Amino acid sequence: MSNTSASQTRTPAALPGHIAIVMDGNGRWAQKRWLPRVAGHKQGVEALRRVVEACIERGVPVLSVFAFSSENWNRPVEEVSGLMDLLVMALSREVPRLSENGVRLHFPGDRSALSSRVVQGLEAAERDTAHNRTLVLNVCFNYGGRWDVTQAAQRLVQQGREITEDNLSSAMALAHVGDPDLLIRTGGELRISNFLLWQSAYTELVFTECLWPDFDAAELDRAMAEFANRERRFGQTAEQRAEVEPMAVAAGQQHA
Ligand code: FPP
Repeated sequence: MSNTSASQTRTPAALPGHIAIVMDGNGRWAQKRWLPRVAGHKQGVEALRRVVEACIERGVPVLSVFAFSSENWNRPVEEVSGLMDLLVMALSREVPRLSENGVRLHFPGDRSALSSRVVQGLEAAERDTAHNRTLVLNVCFNYGGRWDVTQAAQRLVQQGREITEDNLSSAMALAHVGDPDLLIRTGGELRISNFLLWQSAYTELVFTECLWPDFDAAELDRAMAEFANRERRFGQTAEQRAEVEPMAVAAGQQHA
């Protein structure tokens, strides 16, 4: 697979430059099969692998997924430790193949509450894939939208910088990529659940009943087709957008 720069890629207007996914429904997928919830998360890793490959094939340069939220600590202890183990296991198993495919990994989120074993795994994966340019994969882990805005504001205060929209954007945990164009939530719920609150101000939302472990390239294509049919106006009128379309689309994609 070619290893062109994800950040330099100019995507056509109908192709999202950044897709974000709330991977919901693992627990229900497992419960339907009388399996422990962690079995659903394991199958969720398989779905994630399929979707990463599908994004690369379709030329999507940035994918962000919600793997563990700030609120997931409230789950049963065995599920939390199961998710931590799964992350460490998935990293050792998947990183070489991801790297071969040109995937650069980032793990936006609060690392202060994670064990040193997990933090070392995240740091090693980020270091080992830092040279890759085909796809940026943000695996948001112990992430919350409110945490992100708060940590960005705290950082600016510490640095003695003014709280402005631009400064806040540059201090957010996903400042290395543009805002998501398309946010998909699987599992049938119609909410954002504290995912990319700041970054999704103009993001197109697509909800599907499909449980995350069943999500595949065909489901991704359905969501991308829905996205391609949306009219994005970024606060302007449809007439204004039509007038400035080529420039506006390019500018929108720098943000999106
Ligand atoms: C939500 O489903 C999913 C999660 C809390 C975890 C998502 C994790 C993965 C898809 C695996 C990839 C993770 C790593 C560690 C790389 P749910 O459990 O809330 O499902 P439910 O709504 O059916 O109960």
